Amino acid sequence: MREPPPDGTRDKPTVRPVAPHVRDAYRGTLVLNSDYDGPRAEAALASGMADAITFGRTFLANPDLPARLAEQAALNPVDTATLYTRGREGYVDYPRLSSGGPGKTLAQGAASR
Ligand SMILES: Cc1cc2nc3c(=O)[nH]c(=O)nc-3n(C[C@H](O)[C@H](O)[C@H](O)COP(=O)(O)O)c2cc1C
Repeated sequence: MREPPPDGTRDKPTVRPVAPHVRDAYRGTLVLNSDYDGPRAEAALASGMADAITFGRTFLANPDLPARLAEQAALNPVDTATLYTRGREGYVDYPRLSSGGPGKTLAQGAASR
């Protein structure tokens, strides 16, 4: 279930949060999404609000997101200019934590457009 928070980076809610009501009524696996980072995801899981969290843009920008979350490492910011575009750029070229991995810096990406 995607429910952008009031401080979300894309789309603002026009109604009060629905997920708590879904959680009350639905005992199955509830997966929440939108604007989660590590701490927010942990809080939603710890409170029982969600059984799992999915990451969209953050995963695009951080191909090694699980490792970054586990290490509490800094996240690459999302380059919104490459979202919903054709081609590889913005999908497979974000830098990984390990310097030996594939990728380029966002500055290099911007320069090549
Ligand atoms: C490039 C891109 C493509 C997406 N394509 C779909 C899609 O095909 N179907 C869908 O339900 N959501 C799609 N989404 C929305 C994401 O699944 C997700 O709900 C949204 O990005 C909010 O989560 P986030 O804050 O973790 O990015 C897409 C998002 C992006 C950035």
